[in-house]
Amino acid sequence: MNKKTVTDIDVKGKKVLVRVDFNVPLSSKDPNDTNITVTDDTRIRAALPTLNYLLEHGAALILCSHLGRPKTPADKQYAMDPVAKCLSDLLGKPVQKLDEMVGESVTAAVAAMQPGDVILLENTRFTPGETKNDAELSAKLAALADVYVNDAFGSAHRAHASTEGVARALQGPSVAGFLMGKELEALGTAVTNPPHPYIAIMGGAKISDKIKLIDNLLQKADKVLIGGGMANTFLKAQGYELGSSLVEADALPEARRLLETAVDSLVLPVDVVIAPEFKADAPATVVAVDAIPADQMALDIGPKTLELFKASLAGAKLVIWNGPMGVFEMAPFAKGTNELAQLLATAVDAGTQVVIGGGDSAAAVKNAGLTAKMTHVSTGGGASLELLEGKELPGIVALDDK
Ligand code: 3PG
Repeated sequence: MNKKTVTDIDVKGKKVLVRVDFNVPLSSKDPNDTNITVTDDTRIRAALPTLNYLLEHGAALILCSHLGRPKTPADKQYAMDPVAKCLSDLLGKPVQKLDEMVGESVTAAVAAMQPGDVILLENTRFTPGETKNDAELSAKLAALADVYVNDAFGSAHRAHASTEGVARALQGPSVAGFLMGKELEALGTAVTNPPHPYIAIMGGAKISDKIKLIDNLLQKADKVLIGGGMANTFLKAQGYELGSSLVEADALPEARRLLETAVDSLVLPVDVVIAPEFKADAPATVVAVDAIPADQMALDIGPKTLELFKASLAGAKLVIWNGPMGVFEMAPFAKGTNELAQLLATAVDAGTQVVIGGGDSAAAVKNAGLTAKMTHVSTGGGASLELLEGKELPGIVALDDK
């Protein structure tokens, strides 16, 4: 990475503003619930190496993050209090949670900070200028600290005041944290210099959001395996009848173009799990892709497809996986995703680097208890996709060059 990191600067006695991605799942969406807890602390744990390093090196920490997509500060279910509690437990020290992102209470609390203290600001998205990357808000945030550290890989594709504007507004150094560095190394390899054979596996509902990504992957990867709802649109473009399956009619021309340009490298399902309804208790059966009845829908990849994918993965040096192979939230349609996770864990044992591109695939790997097996599981969903698309991420671009 050509960006400075926390090890390139002196933080002793400094007030360090750290943008973390503490956008974590919560136990309730009710604004009146006063007992909301964090249900998955993966993203908070992932920031600990940076936070502990800064504390051990004599800094005082002012942390900030968004949480959810609140429409107004009245969306109290997105207040940072449960996150502060979880962080305090993980750090083993008090975390002072403030009720503003900037303002008098923040200025006063920051002025009183000593090395080793930790403050967590209120949800950055409660302040209107955040998502607009407002210059005045960026300047106020920058004025709080001597140093800015961005460790929020999951939000690095957003040009917001706390991820981009502040890095430019702050007078002192703006550098990357350890998590940011780790993510860029794991995902960046796939973009810049992938070892071959390099296999990409794409899933999820829609191809319309991922056409640029698939285009980019087809240029870099030796094979792109497609599963999940997006495979339906490719199969339809090949002339198969998909029954009542989700098919993106608008994306058919793009699917045809990709099929024509990548005849040898796109690998599509040969069988699917079907059901008459999108319901967990609907009767599920396996059919070949040319035998989907008019009143049934494809909801997972079938066993022959898993065999085909397994054969494609043999001997791979690098595998990137993004997106589930089916409706993995419902048990009858989770097998394709879960067995793929198992196949990838076996591939790691055989020497393949396996990188999981965040979001639903990271959740599936976690459900299967395989997170620790993988070479890297990204904490970023949208950010990892944009990076793999070959885009520059504004939160990274704004940091100081080495
Ligand atoms: C994520 O969960 O992908 C990041 O925290 C970004 O969240 P956002 O899509 O609401 O900006």
